[in-house]
Amino acid sequence: MSRIEKPLALLTYNLPPGWIRSLDGQVRLITPPAGGRGFTPELQAHFGQAEGLLSMLTDRVDGALLERMPKLKVVSNMAVGVDNIDLEACRARSIPVGHTPGVLTAATADMAMALLLASARLIPQASHDAREGRWGPWEADAWLGADLGGAKLGVVGLGQIGSAIARRAHGFGLRIAYCARSPKLEAESALDAVRLDLPELLKISDFVVLAVDLNETTQGLVGKAELGMMKETAILVNIARGPVVQTEALVHALQEKRIAGAALDVTDPEPLPPSHPLYGLPNCLITPHIGSATHGARRGMAELACENLLAGLKGYGLRNQVP
Ligand code: DGY
Repeated sequence: MSRIEKPLALLTYNLPPGWIRSLDGQVRLITPPAGGRGFTPELQAHFGQAEGLLSMLTDRVDGALLERMPKLKVVSNMAVGVDNIDLEACRARSIPVGHTPGVLTAATADMAMALLLASARLIPQASHDAREGRWGPWEADAWLGADLGGAKLGVVGLGQIGSAIARRAHGFGLRIAYCARSPKLEAESALDAVRLDLPELLKISDFVVLAVDLNETTQGLVGKAELGMMKETAILVNIARGPVVQTEALVHALQEKRIAGAALDVTDPEPLPPSHPLYGLPNCLITPHIGSATHGARRGMAELACENLLAGLKGYGLRNQVP
């Protein structure tokens, strides 16, 4: 950057210094105090001067916030999902929004498979039983899970992550159906995947994995009617966003065993309070939004978010700009 004064950027989370090294010497970076996160008073004190914002998926970036940051040139979200950002409000102010696709695809797809396998094979329940002293002499008919080979997997949303899940599942012998706005010919030829509409996919699938973005068309996509279309033996996996599923409807479906189980890496609300009924259901496996939580993926996300931030500050096109 050619000017003397470096641009001021806000970072809403204290990321490991090694992940954000590219910002060194490039920006004046304001971060929350140790243990803090989000738009703390320390960040708010610089709203008037901030030219860049590096946000987390938990930070709401809307018109009201942008009004308070009149010099803002770029929002760089350290996530692939941008449902925390009012894109229209950014567009109206010509502020580009960056996100971090690609670098987390493998980690998130691995997590979807981990959830699918864990629920199919009752791993949490079996592990819990063993710890609780319920592991007696080997039993031929105990802890029987679902077979994967030949079973049908319905992937809702065949973007980068959905496709990576389908490839993995194909390797496990699952037959793939998918639901997407447009046909995915590569998946159809390489994986023998079949494109179905949502009701049809729900009816035939033994496992349903949700891998869609959260937006106005996917909010509440899976509710009572959709859960009612699923097989009683089916398992629902959500690695997308919590609000894609109507939580109350899911609780009832699991309580009444209208589906066999659910494995949720994302929930609505998030974090899910410890008193929530979902935790009390043995057929529900819950992890705390850790789909991309590998060393490589999270570091890659942070580095890409920094790259997008710097590009936006310099007025260049972002490497990954939300369309
Ligand atoms: C994302 O990037 O949107 C993921 O949810 C983070 O794991």
